[in-house]
Amino acid sequence: MGKLFGYDEKLRFDTGNENYYELLKDGLLHPSKAGVVLMSPFAKLVLSLNGVKYGRGVRVYGIPRIENRGKISLGNNMRLNSAVCTYNSGNLEGPVLLRASKEGSIITGDEVYLNGTSIISEISVTLGSRIMIGANTVIMDTNTHNVPWENRLRRWDKIVRKPVKIEDDVWIGASCFIMKGVTVGKGSIIAAGSVVSKDVEPFSIYAGNPAVFVKKIDEE
Ligand SMILES: CC(C)(COP(=O)(O)OP(=O)(O)OC[C@H]1O[C@@H](n2cnc3c(N)ncnc32)[C@H](O)[C@@H]1OP(=O)(O)O)[C@@H](O)C(=O)NCCC(=O)NCCS
Repeated sequence: MGKLFGYDEKLRFDTGNENYYELLKDGLLHPSKAGVVLMSPFAKLVLSLNGVKYGRGVRVYGIPRIENRGKISLGNNMRLNSAVCTYNSGNLEGPVLLRASKEGSIITGDEVYLNGTSIISEISVTLGSRIMIGANTVIMDTNTHNVPWENRLRRWDKIVRKPVKIEDDVWIGASCFIMKGVTVGKGSIIAAGSVVSKDVEPFSIYAGNPAVFVKKIDEE
């Protein structure tokens, strides 16, 4: 009974419910939410069918959109949240989208939480471990089209592509854009609604469009 009613920090972080009683009540009041959680093992099939490698304890809430012509490899204890009715701090408009072209690769460490996140790779997007990404953020390692006007509809080989790296323990807020060639340093935070086009120093907060340094974070 203690477990049912007692405060559980991990449960609170994962589901927003303080104890198992609240979780149960939540499930009964919002059956679609409970359904999405129960369907998680089946939603994982979408990863396997698209040739995505993934580790232990991966939770897939809602159906992600995967286009894998290159390499996609996800670590342990990942969470892919695509559903409007599950736990996120934003009203997700779209599913998680992972698109790796023939030359592209998306590699993550462990415990990376993607909330309606889009990752577009034509060369390399690497994420470390223990990373949280708020709703509707886009990470891309390519301009997707050419800058010179006469080449925009042709010459796909000329498109600028530069690897993106998100280091361990980074928190990216909701509705951000992380552009080609950027490294976000360990432990940093990108404020909600930022557009990051230059490297981000470790243990720092960056905000705005273009994102600029706001303040340092204590490393202790
Ligand atoms: C980055 C963040 C954590 C900073 O929080 P904080 O430490 O309390 O910082 P403050 O609110 O004191 O803001 C510090 C400065 O950054 C500015 N700032 C904060 N968020 C900003 C944003 N999204 N865009 C532009 N500037 C921002 C503030 O105006 C302030 O500027 P000032 O120093 O000129 O007064 C918070 O603003 C944020 O964006 N959180 C993300 C929330 C989110 O997206 N959640 C989704 C679920 S993961």
